[in-house]
Amino acid sequence: MHRDGANKSLWQDAMPVYKPKHKIIPEQVVDVLVVGGGITGLSTALALQKAGQLVLVIESHTIGFGTTGGTTAHLNTFLDTTYDHIERDFGEKGAQLVFQATSEAIESIRKNTEEYNIDCGFGYKDGYVFAQNKDQAEALEKLVQASRKAGMEIHYTDDLPIPVPFEKAASFTKQAQFHPTRYLYGIAEALENAGGMIVQQCRAEHFESNVLTEVRTNLGVIRARKLIFATHIPPSINLLHFRCAPYRSYALALKLNDGNYPDALVYDMYDPFRYYRTQEADGQKYLVIGGEDHKTGHNDNTDFCFSKLDSYASKYYDIEEVSFKWSSEYFEPADGLPYIGHLPGFADNVFVATGFSGNGMVYSHVAALLLRDLITTGQNPFQHVFDPNRIKPVAGFSNFVKENADVVREFIGKRLSKEKIESLVEVGKGEGKVVKYEGESIALYRDDRGTLHAVNPVCTHAKCIVQWNNSEKSWDCPCHGARYTADGKVLTGPASKDLEIVELKDLVKVE
Ligand code: FES
Repeated sequence: MHRDGANKSLWQDAMPVYKPKHKIIPEQVVDVLVVGGGITGLSTALALQKAGQLVLVIESHTIGFGTTGGTTAHLNTFLDTTYDHIERDFGEKGAQLVFQATSEAIESIRKNTEEYNIDCGFGYKDGYVFAQNKDQAEALEKLVQASRKAGMEIHYTDDLPIPVPFEKAASFTKQAQFHPTRYLYGIAEALENAGGMIVQQCRAEHFESNVLTEVRTNLGVIRARKLIFATHIPPSINLLHFRCAPYRSYALALKLNDGNYPDALVYDMYDPFRYYRTQEADGQKYLVIGGEDHKTGHNDNTDFCFSKLDSYASKYYDIEEVSFKWSSEYFEPADGLPYIGHLPGFADNVFVATGFSGNGMVYSHVAALLLRDLITTGQNPFQHVFDPNRIKPVAGFSNFVKENADVVREFIGKRLSKEKIESLVEVGKGEGKVVKYEGESIALYRDDRGTLHAVNPVCTHAKCIVQWNNSEKSWDCPCHGARYTADGKVLTGPASKDLEIVELKDLVKVE
């Protein structure tokens, strides 16, 4: 299967491209059109189809192409936004609702694997979090206390299933893991068997919403009674682009010489934190370790993130081989909780699910159940805590200002930055760079054969300047996370148009 980056993830290995039953869009009006064929889109589509709706999923590439193919597949109620923070910003009741929603989400994944007989290695695991200094130990105490109040079974422990020194640790139950793309293909088949439709290579280019929504795609116009954007971040420009910031996380799948694989999900307390688990695929175990997160487009050498992760893992593990390395994008919400519900600023029949932090696997199913209920009954017990229209000024304000200030700087500042002016000759094979030439900014990429490709670096979403990602060989937009191939084709939204090709012969003499 294909993914939105040059590196191959563990989840792509031995997975053919999914072949849906449909190749063309239907002429009839569908009840629900879901845009996005990742785990959020497909699980929501399946939940709605089972509830009696006629559902169509369109995916601009092939299913699993985005972050579902690049996750590390932790299914947790222990979240990136810890319960002490959720309690501070959403109250004790809010924290309890989040715990309940994520617990139900994991249970619904388990039920799907059973009902549809999906061979994805789903299994419950214990989780561990550990502190490595005094400050972290204090933070851990707050975290444990709030997690208990939220409903978690969590207790201090003297044992850690990984060989990393620690000062204080806690363990908690009922976390889980699975093979995400095998699960994805399983629910895709279940959706089609239930009468739902999936059309791949179908890009939503424009939408209008009235009593019916009309979505213009490269394959024609689709009409639907309800529309859901499960595209990570919705297209066009709306409030959520100022409430979500794109980040990138890195992962390695390692074979170990001594078989010291942890049978648990484990997290340290640094910022960004590292996370560990074991995955077995076709009889081979791998230690999957992740971390080194940073804002999209804010790291000049993404390859170095893998090197740092590798040398960290080497300190504690006897590594036989780095079998896979990959990175992936996620969206950090301003106040720490996802936005699931009506898309702000649009008609009542347009919905969205975004801002999942690093917990996309579990929030996908929070979204599936919540959106199913909103569409079929108009209510769900968790709708208010995840409402995209909520205003949490105290909670969101500091993050919002920080992330939004960055957006503003990209809009008006970086386009003129002298530091970004580079000489053409410095672009080596396999490298990309935004350079200035005769007053024009140009995004240059020299492929492995030495051919230079040039595109306009102005992102087609809202005109920020893209940055080269040397590890995944893509142009990444630091503002709202759109990504493009080396020759400017859209990999991930919110952009829906490719970067403009620059005719090099008009500007420079190559060689
Ligand atoms: Fe919004 Fe690029 S993604 S400007």
